[in-house]
Amino acid sequence: MSNSAQEALYGGTSSKRVTVRDLIAAKVRGEKWPMLTAYDAMTARIFDDAGFPVLLVGDSAAMVVYGYDSTVPITVDELMPLVRAVVRGSSRALVVADLPFGSYQSSPAQALDTAARFMKEAGAHAIKLEGGRRVLAQVELLVESGIPVIGHLGLTPQSVNVLGGYRVQGRGESGEQVMYDAKALEAAGASAVVLEVVPADLAARVTASLSIPTIGIGAGASTDAQVLVWQDLVGLSAGPLPKFVKPYADLRGVLTAAVTGWAADVTSGAYPDEAHAYA
Ligand code: KIV
Repeated sequence: MSNSAQEALYGGTSSKRVTVRDLIAAKVRGEKWPMLTAYDAMTARIFDDAGFPVLLVGDSAAMVVYGYDSTVPITVDELMPLVRAVVRGSSRALVVADLPFGSYQSSPAQALDTAARFMKEAGAHAIKLEGGRRVLAQVELLVESGIPVIGHLGLTPQSVNVLGGYRVQGRGESGEQVMYDAKALEAAGASAVVLEVVPADLAARVTASLSIPTIGIGAGASTDAQVLVWQDLVGLSAGPLPKFVKPYADLRGVLTAAVTGWAADVTSGAYPDEAHAYA
């Protein structure tokens, strides 16, 4: 497709996979786009058909798929089949695999080994990792090796034990560290940067300072893209939600009503009726 006939990033119908170059081109056009997490083939197909250009197999799978109480415990082997499923379930979306805690921090070589596994064994199209200056050597080696990288700054959940909880990052002077790290990630070759739970004005300044897209989650309205854990977006997650989550449905209520309605019909003998049985 020529640049003059460039289709929209969100909702585009081309069968060609979205690439990181498309994300940067959308920033040049001033086009905002949505991104969701996905962890299985069925939801990946729904989000892909709906036109989502990027699907993240986040290490949030630790909590929403595996039931851990943070993202820290999930392993590469636990995330790998989920990435494979999302790649199989989608045809247009760029599928991003999150590198789990402990699978990339110790050296650039370790990061390359892990990222290469996600690309070769699961078919991921890019990887995401958390951190700024402390992972620049990793980002440089991955990009030199041909692996698109998305950075992640602000509230980096893998560091929850150092951060002392899920709290706003980058307020006051520490905002300059987020700005420094964002610019350093761009210089190291990152294709985009997630900004999680940072003040909206800081995210706006970072977004204006970078040529690569910023992807916000709890970072206000000025980032180039927005990402959410899909179960939060549709009201499936239990318990108190972070301030930035605005549920667009009550799937927990819908699912509960459906399964309890069926259970009541099973116990009363009303299901299966003749229409749902074979002669
Ligand atoms: O793991 C995840 O789902 C994430 C996003 C929420 C950014 O990192």
